[in-house]
Amino acid sequence: MPGRRARPASPALGRARVAASILDADLGNLAYAVRRAETEGADRIHLDVMDGHFVPNLTFGPRTIKALRKRTRLPLDAHLMIEEPGRYLDEYLDAGCDSITIHVEIKEAIEPTLRRIREAGRAVGLSLRPGTPLSALEPYRRLLDLVMVMTVEPGFGGQAFMADVARAKILAARDLLAHKLHGAEVHVDGGVNRETAELVGSLGADVLVVGSALWIRGRDMGREIRLVRALADEGFQYALNGGQPPVPRDRMSTFATLPRHLARTLQGEIERLGIPVFIFRAGDTSIDLPDGERDWDVLLPATAEGAATDHFGARRADLLAEASAWRTAGMPPPPPVPAPRPPRPSEVVS
Ligand code: DX5
Ligand code: ZN
Repeated sequence: MPGRRARPASPALGRARVAASILDADLGNLAYAVRRAETEGADRIHLDVMDGHFVPNLTFGPRTIKALRKRTRLPLDAHLMIEEPGRYLDEYLDAGCDSITIHVEIKEAIEPTLRRIREAGRAVGLSLRPGTPLSALEPYRRLLDLVMVMTVEPGFGGQAFMADVARAKILAARDLLAHKLHGAEVHVDGGVNRETAELVGSLGADVLVVGSALWIRGRDMGREIRLVRALADEGFQYALNGGQPPVPRDRMSTFATLPRHLARTLQGEIERLGIPVFIFRAGDTSIDLPDGERDWDVLLPATAEGAATDHFGARRADLLAEASAWRTAGMPPPPPVPAPRPPRPSEVVS
């Protein structure tokens, strides 16, 4: 009984994430639907906004999303299947969407809307119909955090998955986002369920949008979510990762261990490329040494370690050499290095 479990399921390990689409939930009780999806272990909520023009169906708008915002802690992904997202964008920002995805086929100008989403600090997405070539996204690639590949015609839940579209676009969408060293996501939307999740995962999708398969009467939603994630990770492992299980999305790894002033320097440099970095005191924190003389671990997401090594491997070696020279010189007072603040999305160099 979903209502009885007090706490949400524990956070997902592995790589793939499931966004629960509430399109096929009971639209008369959406607050219950989002709470249930959270309790059953969904990673995000996918909100299908339709205007009756871009697609032949109508759903809900920003006021409904704003009301749902209060009912769940999960990130909200707005999938705007509407002709004029720019006209209504402020309302979707105000509603508290964490990501906003618009369609590349609309007639309204696309770039200003993408920029406004970015300036508001939300993740920026573009989606495309099954018949639209991925090249349509090319002019906007540097503005994008996510690409949403539609594997059904937008408008309705419960349609059959288009495997040929998935094969043609998902891997290519990952390449399109390759400039983004951390946090880029390919979402796959339409017909994703236990039958199709393995293929979707094998093509490197990050977020699987699952709609109707979650809301089948009598079905165990939590099991369905776990199954879809596990199948997607298995697909990734055997098709793209040489049989190795994927690196869990939330795992951190130690990139270097340095005195604080050098750890901060490296932190700032890596963060400028869009990879989040934390520094923590390393080793025995009970010893009574000033922070400047203690070593600090430079931690970053394990999924970004390869990219960080490509870009900063040589710099790390230089800083390690500088650290040992500094220690050999008897640890003179380190130069002041201001604590870096995370860059705003518009500042990230790409
Ligand atoms: C369709 C929507 C999808 C839909 C997916 O236009 O964008 O998000 O809810 O539902 P299923 O999983 O049933 O295809
Ligand atoms: Zn959708």
